[in-house]
Amino acid sequence: MSETEVKNQVRQFYNEIGWKMLSDGFYQNARYEDLRPVSQEYVQRCHLRVNRHISATGHLLLDAGSGPVQYPEYLTYSEFYDYRVCVDISIVALQEARQRVGERGLYVVADVAHLPFKADVFDGEVSLHTLHHLPAEDKKPAFQELYRVLMPGRSAAIINGWTESGLMKLSFWLVRIMETIGIWIAEKRGKQEKKVKVSTSTAVKAADATGTYIQKSSPEWMKAELSQSIPYQIFVWRSVNVRFLRAMVHKPLAGKTLLRLLYWMEERAPGFFGRHGQYPLIVINKSTEKVS
Ligand SMILES: C[S@@+](CC[C@H](N)C(=O)[O-])C[C@H]1O[C@@H](n2cnc3c(N)ncnc32)[C@H](O)[C@@H]1O
Repeated sequence: MSETEVKNQVRQFYNEIGWKMLSDGFYQNARYEDLRPVSQEYVQRCHLRVNRHISATGHLLLDAGSGPVQYPEYLTYSEFYDYRVCVDISIVALQEARQRVGERGLYVVADVAHLPFKADVFDGEVSLHTLHHLPAEDKKPAFQELYRVLMPGRSAAIINGWTESGLMKLSFWLVRIMETIGIWIAEKRGKQEKKVKVSTSTAVKAADATGTYIQKSSPEWMKAELSQSIPYQIFVWRSVNVRFLRAMVHKPLAGKTLLRLLYWMEERAPGFFGRHGQYPLIVINKSTEKVS
């Protein structure tokens, strides 16, 4: 697929499917998140980690690939900014974002790999689960663009999944066992028996699904492509993926306590869990000193 085809496909997906509100009050895109009460505290605390890495106050916060600013925790990032500049290639995303951010938002249909802004203008930046939608040739330009428009002395927080996570790979066999047990229990209870039979693979596919074009990257790619030009650090955002959460975390099995323990460990070793877990939080710091 060409660069234009990828972007058209992604735009069309979010305009027509991803940001459609479903009857349960969530966007279709929320299907790819674990919204069960047992995981809620962990998921919310991970969202709030972003606040540590960006300036708490400022004039303009850039949200690159804002979507509809779908979770309440997302609003905390721009709480003490004058304006949140929401950028997205999906007009539906921005129409929905306006419902939440309102007058304190500025809404720009644009491509994150070609930002229509002057250099050094944003006091803070976030880009969440967006750069993985870019074609390979646009990934580096997107990081460069985020760096260019960032104000010197400020920082940006970027979240995307790694192509491969050592921790998720290590726990895969356990996840498979738990998935099998879960299906067996559901069948025993006679719940939607027919559906469940088909769903060994369907449930797994749903947890792994992405809906549209996605190409993730790796710490090696970052080092090779960015380390010479963009100062960045890797922290943990969330070390486990949705498939892991759905398989392993259950209320009767002390799921909440398990996640508290995981969060505690992530806090002790953010670099390790950022590098080896599923979702890193990449922080770009722009120096005030001119590089000669
Ligand atoms: C997975 S959603 C994430 C939205 C939001 N950041 C969140 O975490 O809920 C990805 C968003 O990025 C947008 N997007 C994808 N490619 C883009 C691009 N090249 N430029 C701007 N936005 C893009 C999509 O339209 C979509 O709204």
